[in-house]
Amino acid sequence: MQVVRNLKELRARLGGESQICCVPTMGNIHDGHLSLVKIGKERAPLVVTTIFVNRLQFGQGEDFEKYPRTFEDDCEKLKALGNDIVFCPDETQMYPEPQTFFIDPPKIANRLEGRFRPGHFRGVCTVVTKLFNAVQPQMAVFGKKDYQQLAIIRELTAQLSFPIEIIPAETVRADDGLALSSRNRYLSESERAEAPRLRQAMLQIEEAIRGGDRKYVAMEYLAGSLLARHGWNVDYVVIRAQKGLARPSLDEKKLVVLGAAKLGATRLIDNLEINID
Ligand code: PAJ
Repeated sequence: MQVVRNLKELRARLGGESQICCVPTMGNIHDGHLSLVKIGKERAPLVVTTIFVNRLQFGQGEDFEKYPRTFEDDCEKLKALGNDIVFCPDETQMYPEPQTFFIDPPKIANRLEGRFRPGHFRGVCTVVTKLFNAVQPQMAVFGKKDYQQLAIIRELTAQLSFPIEIIPAETVRADDGLALSSRNRYLSESERAEAPRLRQAMLQIEEAIRGGDRKYVAMEYLAGSLLARHGWNVDYVVIRAQKGLARPSLDEKKLVVLGAAKLGATRLIDNLEINID
C-alpha cells in the first residue's frame, strides 16, 4: 500500500489510471470505514482512501483539536484490506492559502445537522470537491451513517457535473446496534451502555409505522421525550422522506428517521430507512 502526502505525487501516481474509487475519511479507521473500502475493492481495481481531518467542517467549540488521529493504526487496517493508496495531505497541501472560495450548499444543508452545526456542510462540500479534484475518481463511496451528508454529496456531484458515481454504503453497527463512529470512544462506560437507545427509539418508530400509525409529529415527540428521560440532550428525532429529506406526505413510502442527540459531551447521530411496501 502506498502512502501519498502531497498533490503533485498523487497526480503523478494516478495519471493514466481510468478506474479509481475514492473513499474520503477523516481517519480513525473503524469497521464502518473498512466496509466502504471493501465496496471500493469490489467495484474498482484501484482504491484511494483519503485521510484528512478537515478543519473547515468543524464549528467553534467542536472537537477538531481532539479529534482522534491514529494514522499508524489506520494504515495497518487499510493495508490488511488491500487498500491501494492512502492520500493523507496536511493542511498546507489542502489549504495552501487560506481557502476563501467555498462550495455553498443549498437549503437542505441548513436543516437538521446544518441547523445544529452551522457551516458544517459548506466545509464538507468544499473539502470533498477538493478531494474529487485531487483524486479524480470515477466513483466514490459514502456511508449512510451520515445520511444527510450522502444526500448533499449526491446533489453536489450532480449539480457541479462531476463524472463520479456516488455509491452508498449501509451503516456498520456494534452487536448492540450502536452505529460505529470515531466519536464513540468519547463515551464513558455508562454512556456507552445507554448509547444504543438512540437506535431503539428509531426502531420503535418503525414498528409504529409498520403497524399503520401515521402520526409522525407525535412519534417524533415520543422518541425525543423517551431519550430525554434517559438523560439525552436531544437535537432532533424526525421522520422525513428519503428523497430531499422533506417532511413526508401521508402516502410517502420511502421514509427515513433521522436523529442526533448528546450523551454527556458526546454527540451521536443515526438514522433508519423505512420502506413501506
Ligand atoms: P468520517 O466521519 O471519517 O467518515 C468517512 C466515511 O465513513 C463517511 O462516508 C461516513 O458516512 C462513513 N461511515 C462512518 N461511520 C460509518 C459506519 N458506522 N458505517 C458505514 N459507514 C460509516 O464523513 C466524513 O468523515 C467527512 O465528513 C468527509 C466526507 C471525509 C469529509 O471531510
